[in-house]
Amino acid sequence: GRKFFVGGNWKCNGTTEEVKKIVNTLNDGQVPSQDVVEVVVSPPYVFIPLVKSLLRPDFHVAAQNVWVKKGGAYTGEISAEILVNLEVPWVIIGHSERRLILGESNEVMFFLPYLSFWVVIIVPEKFVGDKVAYALSQGLKVIACVGETLEQREARSTLDVVAAQTKAIADRISNWDDIVLAYEPVWAIGTGKVATPAQAQEVHSELRKWLHTNVSADVAAKTRIIYGGSVNGANSKELAAQPDVDGFLVGGASLKPEFIDIIKAAE
Ligand code: 13P
Repeated sequence: GRKFFVGGNWKCNGTTEEVKKIVNTLNDGQVPSQDVVEVVVSPPYVFIPLVKSLLRPDFHVAAQNVWVKKGGAYTGEISAEILVNLEVPWVIIGHSERRLILGESNEVMFFLPYLSFWVVIIVPEKFVGDKVAYALSQGLKVIACVGETLEQREARSTLDVVAAQTKAIADRISNWDDIVLAYEPVWAIGTGKVATPAQAQEVHSELRKWLHTNVSADVAAKTRIIYGGSVNGANSKELAAQPDVDGFLVGGASLKPEFIDIIKAAE
């Protein structure tokens, strides 16, 4: 079976005092054992050493982003090499806030001269795929995020969008052992508008079918597909009961004591 996975994405939040308080709450929480649930919290980069020094040993840390290739003269970026050096095992890649607000979707364009015309070929999502491939090559484990906007859902293109985002990753990697796929519908993030268990199950099951067809039966069976978007203590149980929902990526509620209740949904 696939071990339940719960990630807490703290996003761009927290002061030193608040971080200490959250970690203390997590450390005091009664949760199922590591055989039942894998728990990862993702503080802003600068708090990672503090969190690592205080956090209970059965929980692990993730970075919220990583540079796309080997580090060097890239002001403001953090490389996979730095994360490895700081013993940060996990990284979140392709979060919709990075894709949509920071422009990481991102299309790479090739301009090919053809007769006297310029032909534009757009390769969607290549940047995110490259990030995942490089992070894995350095030994990091990756939480790779996909998800449609409200506009895309209303246009009934949800499955095409998440398949294209997943393909951009699948095209660049061969080993899926260290990837968790996070389905996070953009319209459900930070809105309090959670996907219904049926909506989440539908997309998760389609993603698993996509992996089965395009990668392998083994990868489809083993890869954890987790849900993110307004998950809280109250709705997590019913979502967790869906056969293809293998855990959660939690934003707002991961900063609160109810994160412990969400972890308990693993049981
Ligand atoms: P919320 O749980 O705040 O909706 O955020 C979800 C998310 O983006 C996790 O990565």
